[in-house]
Amino acid sequence: MFLVLQLAIIVLSFIAHEHEAIAAYVPDYSSLVFPIHKHTDAAKPLYSVEIMTAYVNMQYLHANFLIDVDAPFIWHDCIVQWNIYPGSCPPDKLCTSPVSCDEYQCTDVRTSYSYQKPYCSPPKNESISPGWGYCSCSVNVVDPVTGSCGQAKLNYWDDFTVNVSNGKNVLTGVYGVYPYAACAPSSAFQSFPANVTGVMALSSSPYALPAHLLEPLENVIGLCLPSTLSTSGVLFYGNSPYYLLPQKDVDVRSYLSYTPLIKHPDSFGYFIDVNNIVIKKRSISIPANATTKISTLDPYAILRTDIYNRVIRRFSMVTKRIPPAKPVPPFGLCFSTQSGLRVPDIDFSLPEGKKWTMSAANSIKQVTKDVACLALVDGGATSEPAIVIGSFQMEDNFLVFDLENSTFGFSSSLLRKQTSCSNFNFTLVES
Ligand SMILES: *[C@@H]1O[C@H](CO)[C@@H](O)[C@H](O)[C@H]1NC(C)=O
Ligand SMILES: *[C@@H]1O[C@H](CO)[C@@H](O)[C@H](O)[C@H]1NC(C)=O
Ligand SMILES: *[C@@H]1O[C@H](CO)[C@@H](O)[C@H](O)[C@H]1NC(C)=O
Ligand SMILES: *[C@@H]1O[C@H](CO)[C@@H](O)[C@H](O)[C@H]1NC(C)=O
Ligand SMILES: *[C@@H]1O[C@H](CO)[C@@H](O)[C@H](O)[C@H]1NC(C)=O
Ligand SMILES: *[C@@H]1O[C@H](CO)[C@@H](O)[C@H](O)[C@H]1NC(C)=O
Repeated sequence: MFLVLQLAIIVLSFIAHEHEAIAAYVPDYSSLVFPIHKHTDAAKPLYSVEIMTAYVNMQYLHANFLIDVDAPFIWHDCIVQWNIYPGSCPPDKLCTSPVSCDEYQCTDVRTSYSYQKPYCSPPKNESISPGWGYCSCSVNVVDPVTGSCGQAKLNYWDDFTVNVSNGKNVLTGVYGVYPYAACAPSSAFQSFPANVTGVMALSSSPYALPAHLLEPLENVIGLCLPSTLSTSGVLFYGNSPYYLLPQKDVDVRSYLSYTPLIKHPDSFGYFIDVNNIVIKKRSISIPANATTKISTLDPYAILRTDIYNRVIRRFSMVTKRIPPAKPVPPFGLCFSTQSGLRVPDIDFSLPEGKKWTMSAANSIKQVTKDVACLALVDGGATSEPAIVIGSFQMEDNFLVFDLENSTFGFSSSLLRKQTSCSNFNFTLVES
């Protein structure tokens, strides 16, 4: 047992060395790049990043992990294995080595970096295999689709491989990521979209992905969710220029406005301040204590009832010439139309005169062939946070979570700039 642990420490320090060696070069890449896929085959629309895992027969296996900007740690389908040497791991599996329940990291994750909601009963200590007497670190996980509690085991140095980029193309060469991540049995992923076998935590938790990516990359996430199933969106990590076709030389950062990212004591996720919601020059003021959260797991914006009612009232007023339709849950305001509704923008007005505009592509959801709805959901009278910006509102918007400077950048709809999140050029270029 101690030998295994010692071996783990030697390998870990070797990995740390390897990274130091890499850091000494000035790399030709400025970011990591991940394709994003949209999924509509689960109970709600979800988005995943594609990564590479085991290297088998001279090629990488690929895996898709759900994008969660809130989750406290990464977790996925894998096998917990003590003896990675020599070759006891099945070639098509990701095997990892468990953290013991006596170790600092286990207590740290269980007490400070666990899922906060809903309340799950405390995980039990279990022996890794009968007779070992060695206790692995079970942690609670919350199913992002059903919201139910499950258990996973925390592991050392998981092993992912990610492509690198100069912001324009994929470059040759890859980047190894060795995060702590938790293993859950395959059955934990039944509610997930097909071919999605994990959760990629992009939060500010020290066990989420950003905390595991090292110099010379800067701690900046560029997120661009696609609106279609057939094309990939793109996630960048690193303070890089970002380019989307057909504009070959326009850095997408030139489209962005910035607002402070706000920390919230009960969450690892990202919040911003919204002062008003403005629809056709009429301003709906947001109470000063209302918080606004960015969520990649909630498909549509959720507003606390007092805010929701005022927005709906104003929006129905400015769209009264459009024939109404019977509301389709979870929406409360629907229109009878086949496509191409022309509606006023909904502007989220932020501090310092900044404005995040939701145009029809991000505010009107075509629900059936003949019915389109305002993509807002009533969260109830006491819903907390008061405003949640959902993934439909983010599609084809370029968003930057700058964790170095605690700012949030947003482009509003890229469609108005004649591009979209599906326009990154994934062609491989020799570096
Ligand atoms: C990484 O780049 C290679 C070469 O272009 C490509 O075949 C592979 O699919 C990419 N992997 C991911 C996860 O995007
Ligand atoms: C699990 O083991 C750890 C370390 O021995 C101990 O601190 C913790 O209280 C145990 N938890 C449970 C639920 O037994
Ligand atoms: C899942 O992956 C398999 C193998 O790569 C592929 O054939 C299949 O089309 C995928 N299914 C979905 C729903 O993406
Ligand atoms: C927000 O402030 C109002 C009064 O201004 C108060 O009634 C309400 O409880 C506060 N809500 C929160 C979540 O603090
Ligand atoms: C953070 O802000 C400083 C000063 O404005 C700037 O020089 C730097 O580039 C910013 N870093 C990132 C990652 O945005
Ligand atoms: C994508 O990048 C490659 C390599 O730079 C380039 O040859 C190709 O023309 C680009 N594709 C488009 C559609 O511009």
